[in-house]
Amino acid sequence: MKLKPLFAAALLAASAAWAQEPIVIKFSHVTTADTPKGKGAQKFKELAEAATQGRVKVDVYPNSQLYKDKEELEALQMGAVQMLAPSLSKFGPLGVKEFEVYDIPYILPSKAALRRVNEGPVGKALLKKLETKGIVGLAYWDNGFKEMTSNKPIAQPADFRGQKMRIQSSKVLDAQMRALGANPQVLAFSEVYQGMQTGVVDGSENTPSNIYTQKMHEVQKYMTVSDHGYIGYAVIANKRFWDALPPDIRTALDGAMREATRYANTIAQQENDAALEGIKKAGKTQVRELSPQEKAAWRKALLPVQATVAPRVGKPLIDAFNREAAAAEAEQRAASR
Ligand code: LMR
Repeated sequence: MKLKPLFAAALLAASAAWAQEPIVIKFSHVTTADTPKGKGAQKFKELAEAATQGRVKVDVYPNSQLYKDKEELEALQMGAVQMLAPSLSKFGPLGVKEFEVYDIPYILPSKAALRRVNEGPVGKALLKKLETKGIVGLAYWDNGFKEMTSNKPIAQPADFRGQKMRIQSSKVLDAQMRALGANPQVLAFSEVYQGMQTGVVDGSENTPSNIYTQKMHEVQKYMTVSDHGYIGYAVIANKRFWDALPPDIRTALDGAMREATRYANTIAQQENDAALEGIKKAGKTQVRELSPQEKAAWRKALLPVQATVAPRVGKPLIDAFNREAAAAEAEQRAASR
């Protein structure tokens, strides 16, 4: 059958337009846009769209606008969104419990130790574990070290006794709070402010940036700068989607991710420092540092957590983290000589 010339031209134009439709990446996350993760996601969007000359469009959905913690992982697996950056503490319910090693208190004493883990074979092997879940791990992004907040002053481990403390969905964080005598309660990030306001929880642990941008400091009377643990992210994509990308697009996106990762990991500390200042200036929360004696008491109370959680996250993995941390400290000592 011969097509009428006008109809054929319209068909051609429509198929050309279809061929030019950009590939859309929905990137959902739970923090506000003005956090280390929010800014990292925005940077990735800008870099990815520029590198692919518009063949890829990245739509970022911050602040649990689309999905909460657990739902976002399900949405990624189903292909309803293509990218996420959940905290490393949130992969347990998915069946990848090894990431919870990052939640062991004091296991990574510095950013140098963290870099050694994330950029070396240990971090790469952890990301690989996601593949059996239909997820590809693209990068690690920093948030920062965690502090404790509550409506009661917290200086000594004994001060946690009976406190209802919100945690992320990590069994290691559960063990940590129990080691302190607290009563851990899992709440989605988007529900923490209200949980604090209504007394569902007494307190929580988080980074200054998360505390400040969620306004938790307005509903918490005390904050203890303890730096006892870390929040970081695995930037992940739906594996079927990622593997089906045209190779030149994937290469461009890999490059954009490398650059966005450098950016995110550069600004994270400054963002947290500024947020801590903001919390102090707001004057609603009394902020205190731990004395050396108090720090020692926290460490002593929390050290047993390593043994408690070894059957869950794996002793060899804990040992590998401890080795990397020791190597980073040795390097730092050598450099300062
Ligand atoms: C939390 O739930 O407290 C954090 O994981 C939120 C985030 O993504 O930083």
